[in-house]
Amino acid sequence: MKSGGLKQNNMIPQDKIIDGKAIADAMKKEIAAEVAEMLDKGMDAPHLAAIIVGEDGASQTYVASKEKACHSVGMTSSVYRMPANTSEEELLKLISFLNNDEEVDGYIIQLPLPKHINETKVIHSINPKKDVDGFTPFNIGLMQLGEPCFLPATPAGIVELLKRSGVETAGKHVVVLGRSNIVGTPISVMLSRKGADATVTICHSRTQNLPEITRQADILVVAIGKPLFLKADMVKPGAVVVDVGIHRIEDPTTEKGYRIEGDVDFDEVAKVASKITPVPGGVGPMTIVSLLYNTLQAKKRK
Ligand code: GUN
Repeated sequence: MKSGGLKQNNMIPQDKIIDGKAIADAMKKEIAAEVAEMLDKGMDAPHLAAIIVGEDGASQTYVASKEKACHSVGMTSSVYRMPANTSEEELLKLISFLNNDEEVDGYIIQLPLPKHINETKVIHSINPKKDVDGFTPFNIGLMQLGEPCFLPATPAGIVELLKRSGVETAGKHVVVLGRSNIVGTPISVMLSRKGADATVTICHSRTQNLPEITRQADILVVAIGKPLFLKADMVKPGAVVVDVGIHRIEDPTTEKGYRIEGDVDFDEVAKVASKITPVPGGVGPMTIVSLLYNTLQAKKRK
């Protein structure tokens, strides 16, 4: 049974489920109110641009959701669609244009990029003042130092999700599965810094005795990119579980021929966790709202 895009399971008490969509909707209202205030003062609406190179289906969906979210809070959006055979030089030219375009407050380059384009070089070319994804070395450095910066959207969304769900992080043992640049590594930094004050362990593909470590976690952040990877016997009873994964699994028994799963075996893990994020309707909506938040900040800083 589904309602409002949030995974439901009759066996799981609903107060265990962290409703990312509801929390994101509340944040969107706060952002929309600030945008409306700007417009009242005669300012332009914050403007988020997105670059997408190629036809990757998931990327197209993400960019469409980001555009829709922008409009829902009164922001302006523009999307630059480039064919898969776009050269690195052409992409860098567009980046240089956006870096200097007064009308654009912030922009993102949807990843992954086609293989012939050097992702590192491209990310390093983004003007840090417009880097609302928080991907540039400058913003990552500021994050490490605990200074004001654009925080990467997914980890920032997770921190806010925990805060607004009343999950205490101070002194807790957080185990992060995955060390990607956009989720695992930054969430580890953010949760271990002053203010969040957690003790953090990062696990990755070379980690030994993984279940032994995950069973020590008070809070588990699972961003490993493998569907249904985290099983109930890897979780300490009462732990909080945050699922960052999103996968389309072929399933001929469903109307669409597929279903959406996360990195966590939700139905089993929900039985032992004290709180858990569903997929969809958990971390995903928070990522988008963090991007809106960063775009608002970019406009304010101008
Ligand atoms: N690809 C997957 N996640 C993201 C994200 O948060 N930002 C961008 N730009 N690309 C992504």
